[in-house]
Order: sequence, then C-alpha cells, then structure tokens
Amino acid sequence: MSLLKLWSVHHFLMLSVFTGAANGYYTYHWAQCIYSSPDFSDMVFLDGYYFNKYLYMQFNSTVGEFVGFTEFGVRNAEILNKDQAYIQQLKAEVDRFCKANAALYKKDIHDKAVAPAVKLSLVKKGDSRRPSLLMCSAYDFYPEQIKVSWLRNGTLVTDVTSTEKMPNGDWYYQIHTELEYIPKAGENISCMVEHAGFSKPMIYDWNPPPVSEFEWSGPLLFTAGDAALMLGIIIAAAGFIYYKSK
Ligand SMILES: *[C@@H]1O[C@H](CO)[C@@H](O)[C@H](O)[C@H]1NC(C)=O
Ligand SMILES: *[C@@H]1O[C@H](CO)[C@@H](O)[C@H](O)[C@H]1NC(C)=O
Ligand SMILES: *[C@@H]1O[C@H](CO)[C@@H](O)[C@H](O)[C@H]1NC(C)=O
Repeated sequence: MSLLKLWSVHHFLMLSVFTGAANGYYTYHWAQCIYSSPDFSDMVFLDGYYFNKYLYMQFNSTVGEFVGFTEFGVRNAEILNKDQAYIQQLKAEVDRFCKANAALYKKDIHDKAVAPAVKLSLVKKGDSRRPSLLMCSAYDFYPEQIKVSWLRNGTLVTDVTSTEKMPNGDWYYQIHTELEYIPKAGENISCMVEHAGFSKPMIYDWNPPPVSEFEWSGPLLFTAGDAALMLGIIIAAAGFIYYKSK
C-alpha cells in the first residue's frame, strides 16, 4: 500500500455526514479520494454508504455508477443511477474535489514534510522462553500521519504490543511502538516506517548488541600486573611532585 493513501484519511473527514440515533443505529456516507501517484493521475473518488459500519452501497468514479452490496443497496443504486445529472456531478468530483484538495495538501503539507529520526531499542531482554520487548521510536516528524510496523523475516507482524503517538508541543510528533517476541536464531526483526518525508518505506533492522567482552559479573579485580603498573605511576608522580617542589 502506498504511503500517499494515508493522506486520503484527511479527505474522508471533510465530506462525512454522520447521523446518529438514540437507539444506537449509525448511518453515514463517507467520501474518499484515493491516490498514490504524485501527479494524481490514478485518483479515484469513492462515495460509500454505510449502516452500522457495513458498506451497503458505493459510488466508485472508475466504475462510474453506484453499486449495491445488499438488497437495500442494490435497490437504491438502481434509483440513483437513473439520475444522470447526479452521476455526472459525482464523476466530476475527481477533479473538482479530489485533485484540487490533493494539490492543496501537497503544497501545504506534503512538500513541507520532515522525516523522522528512527531508533530501535531493547526495553526488556528475553531468552528462549521469556519474550523480549523491543521498541521502535520515530522522533521529530511532520506531519502527524505516519505508519510504523514490525517485520519478522520480512513478514508483517499483526499483533503489535502497543503504539503511542504524541505531539512534541513544537509542531513535531513522536511515536513509539513496542513488540514483544521470543527471540529465535537467524530471524530478522525490523521496523518499517512510512512517512511523507521519505520517498519509500524505510526499513530498520534490529541488530542485537553483541555480547560484550567487558561485561563483569563479579566485583572488579586487579591483576598483579595492573597493581604493579599503578604503583609505578604513583611513584613516578610522587617523584615528579618532589622534583617540582624542589
Ligand atoms: C474502483 O473500481 C475499480 C474498477 O472496478 C477497481 O479496480 C478499484 O479497486 C475500485 N476501488 C475501490 C477502492 O474499491
Ligand atoms: C536478515 O538480514 C540480513 C542483513 O540485512 C540478510 O543478509 C539476511 O538475508 C536476512 N535474513 C532473512 C531470513 O531475511
Ligand atoms: C526466519 O528465517 C530464518 C532463516 O531463514 C529461519 O530460521 C526462521 O525460522 C525464520 N523465522 C520465521 C518466524 O519465519
């Protein structure tokens, strides 16, 4: 899925009409402009009609008419498709509404995008039985829209532990997403970040830190050689001070 499709979320909200009822039924229609090409040549205008989140009828500008997905939807589609003036008007939304808004969006937001700085870190070290906790953090990006996902051996992980996005308070944003997993030998864990500041999805591999040779488990112990060297330095320093004070 292309990154630019994320931006269409913005356009969704503009045309949405929500009509709620006290008994909990929920019906709305949702206009979307979907595109991924920078010149908007693949722009599609969709106008979907939903009842309790279920899409029962949709206008797709590529199809050029309404299509119903339930009996009620099919009946309504037939009626609306007879109104050619309305159909022509909806077809024209590709240029009038979608391309015009996409151009504004590109000029005002997309072209001013600031790519995030991405960092992978180990929150909790696990072993073959206890899960490890990894965190992928993206800092200081603009605009807010971002997609951060985890890949195991190049396959998308669906059960991500947690994700939190927050504003820095300075127009920039940060996001942190955690993945709990049991480490397996020979397996690649990577974090994929999609943002308008990047020209393509960026993949960051998690390279577990090598086991340090200088990891101490007990108290610090000097060898006889270290002690002799230290003593030599102290004696030399004492001699130097003695010489200077003379
Ligand atoms: C719109 O219709 C075209 C042609 O049938 C189809 O390829 C495309 O997937 C449809 N778009 C959506 C979002 O349903
Ligand atoms: C894991 O990543 C390394 C370096 O990026 C690559 O050489 C290797 O083929 C990858 N292995 C798998 C199983 O994807
Ligand atoms: C990932 O690839 C490695 C090496 O090919 C393999 O040993 C491992 O089982 C794979 N892990 C998963 C979760 O597919």
